Amino acid sequence: MSLLTIVRQMIERYGAIEADFGNSTVKHSVYKRIRYLEIARIAAQLEGDLAEIGARYGLTTALLAMAAERYDRRVLVVDSWQDHYKKDHQEFIKRTRGWEGLIDVVHADSHSQEALEALSRPLSMALLDADHSLAAVEQDLEAVKHARIIVVDGIHDVQGARSAWQHIAPDYGLTLTLPKLREGYIVTEDVELSI
Ligand SMILES: C[S@@+](CC[C@H](N)C(=O)[O-])C[C@H]1O[C@@H](n2cnc3c(N)ncnc32)[C@H](O)[C@@H]1O
Repeated sequence: MSLLTIVRQMIERYGAIEADFGNSTVKHSVYKRIRYLEIARIAAQLEGDLAEIGARYGLTTALLAMAAERYDRRVLVVDSWQDHYKKDHQEFIKRTRGWEGLIDVVHADSHSQEALEALSRPLSMALLDADHSLAAVEQDLEAVKHARIIVVDGIHDVQGARSAWQHIAPDYGLTLTLPKLREGYIVTEDVELSI
């Protein structure tokens, strides 16, 4: 089955489940992370590591680490933990305890030289969930465009991520969208998988 088909089927399945959730943010948040884990498990079977730009407490990071461990991959986290996110760094350390050995953390702005260099490594998956403004998403997409699967979270906000998604993402590959769930998926290159 092709990578695009696998991702599309997963999205359709969750889209149908979540259509009934209404505004339950708890349910949305749980299923979002299950989706990310599923995508990570698929991606980890491809070449390269898993990257998360914007990790906050590390709730998703721990799931990416579980997928990475199984296939001997690493997780690259880029987060600045600035301003009102500053206190969340301690929580990140707690939540990812036990996985430190396979998580590389760049504690810096995603547009810094340090982050760009780190992100230039081979990546199978990149999750963009940091600054959702148009300019920032555009730069983050550019930094991870070599990843096979790119997930863009927060494509709903009025500051620009929706525009970024609509206008920029198609340039990077095959796109699938879960508009209600505010997520966009890019398969930069479709491949056949023996899953
Ligand atoms: C929505 S939270 C991420 C949530 C996480 N992905 C999850 O699934 O639980 C956003 C994070 O992005 C980080 N962030 C915001 N702007 C950033 C930037 N320019 N560079 C790096 N990190 C940034 C914040 O520090 C915060 O931790």
